[in-house]
Amino acid sequence: MCGIVGYIGRREAAPLLLEGLQRLEYRGYDSAGLAIHARNPGLKSAKAAGRVRDLESRLPKRFSGTTGIAHTRWATHGAPDDANAHPHLDATGRVAVVHNGIIDNASDLRARLAADGVTLASDTDTEVLAHLIGRSTAETLEARVREALGHIEGTYGIAVLHAGFPDRIVAARNGSPVVLGIGEHEMFVASDVAALVAHTRQVVTLDDGEMATLTADDYRTCTTEGSRTAPAPETVEWAAESYDLGGHDTYMHKEISEQADAVDRVLRGRIDDRFATVHLGGLNMDAREARGVRRVKILGCGSAYHAGLIGAQLVEELARIPADAEPASEFRYRNAVVDPDTLYVAVSQSGETYDTLAAVQELKRKGARVLGVVNVVGSAIARETDGGVYVHAGPEVCVVSTKCFTNTAVAFALLALHLGRIRDLSVSDGRRIIAGLRRLPEQIAEILRGEEEIRRLAAEYAEARSMMFVGRVRGYPVALEASLKLKEVSYVHAEAYPASELKHGPLALIEPALPTVAVLPDDDLLEKNRATLEEIKARGGPILAVGHERQEKADHTLVVPRNEPELDPVLLGVPLQLLAYHTALTLGRDIDKPRNLAKSVTVE
Ligand code: G6P
Repeated sequence: MCGIVGYIGRREAAPLLLEGLQRLEYRGYDSAGLAIHARNPGLKSAKAAGRVRDLESRLPKRFSGTTGIAHTRWATHGAPDDANAHPHLDATGRVAVVHNGIIDNASDLRARLAADGVTLASDTDTEVLAHLIGRSTAETLEARVREALGHIEGTYGIAVLHAGFPDRIVAARNGSPVVLGIGEHEMFVASDVAALVAHTRQVVTLDDGEMATLTADDYRTCTTEGSRTAPAPETVEWAAESYDLGGHDTYMHKEISEQADAVDRVLRGRIDDRFATVHLGGLNMDAREARGVRRVKILGCGSAYHAGLIGAQLVEELARIPADAEPASEFRYRNAVVDPDTLYVAVSQSGETYDTLAAVQELKRKGARVLGVVNVVGSAIARETDGGVYVHAGPEVCVVSTKCFTNTAVAFALLALHLGRIRDLSVSDGRRIIAGLRRLPEQIAEILRGEEEIRRLAAEYAEARSMMFVGRVRGYPVALEASLKLKEVSYVHAEAYPASELKHGPLALIEPALPTVAVLPDDDLLEKNRATLEEIKARGGPILAVGHERQEKADHTLVVPRNEPELDPVLLGVPLQLLAYHTALTLGRDIDKPRNLAKSVTVE
């Protein structure tokens, strides 16, 4: 979704801003633009629908200046064209604003401005902010921005330039992330650390209701009411190289390939062999509180929700606490009963997904305890929850989630083990799970070594117009995620069903033109799953099985190594990520940026 980057310092701003925008491309966008303080006083700006490279090719030769702001836009108000791209300027061209989020009262404000004789140049909500700032006569830029924000209802992360104040950028946050990057005689502002880690790893994350004034040598922060704040700078763990392709053709491939190391990271420092449990320092929950949990409710969207389904099964199996997962996007709208003895867990790679964040805020308001299982350290969901487990997958750049999905499932295994060992899970079962967790990285590496076979199969199945994915119990969330992965990245229609439900309806679809991917681990449901294969075969449906041994009824079987049954879902998903990847590659799709999708959906 939308991205912001700003720079103030001694270097030429335009190349740094373009590079920052490229680092944000992964979030998904449809147009881009930038504005700088020109050497002769005044602002210069350029915008273009399409890619950052389209913007670059449109920049005038002389576009020099050492202070600027830039943006990638994902259309919400108005079409993705040049006029609606950010930055937006006020009527005099002396104010430039880039904005993430949505201004809810924009149409009122637009009407009021129009009635005052202002000509609006775009269809966006953001443009009103530029005019409001431009019309303010307060003494400082900070005060002008504050005054304008006073008229706004909605969410924003903004960065503002004003020709009358060429030595500063003002930024503010309410519901859309803003981080400041602190360099040597230079400062950055961005919506995502990805845009600035190549230059500095010292960052300050603004809170909601906070604003900042940046000059080349300093920054100051205050609330949007004007009282000073003093947030401590933090050091970002993720290095700039983590955002590079590292020899792979796509981020998706890179991220699938990184999974053995990523799983190793989520385990590191957490296993306690003596008590056959794990230490999760960030939970902020003592044993007595953990014992008081009567239910676990997991909330997330997309792949995070699917990882939550695996998590719910793990919590039930290992801790024997009733648990379920629900899309956060549904939960927040259905006036759910919020129970004081339920532990709520919000799952999110980015920690920014608006639906998940809104569910967390609603739960907090009602007094619930909410934990986060989150990848991005310091993100909104991580900050709003009472504690949680960081997933440590490292930056995930491809729009579709792979390594973070896997790591989240492992993080849930840790949480479930922790809750289980406080309750009735025996020491020997604790040891069994720990040994299984330790085997995961090598087993993932083994699956990845089989990529060539999967590539061949994908080429064979890529002609299918539709695919069915089935699994029972542990296999079902794997089937759901594999089907989502395929449709997101290859645009092949796919749907997932519990294998047990096939005969209650979808069996009608089975025919030679509809291949089925069947997830069938060697657990106590294997015989039932084999019966499902028979049913499919009898209707002439081609079958690709994924499991622990070759299946006679299947046309092909992808064999994954055995682990403990509870951990099967972690491994069964990996070959199916590769299947989606190679199908998309065969079909020539834009793998890292599938059409219509954004990495972090920060709007409703
Ligand atoms: C978007 C992405 C999905 C992702 C979901 C949740 O819809 O396209 O790939 O799974 O958001 O994202 P999160 O950052 O909360 O895990």
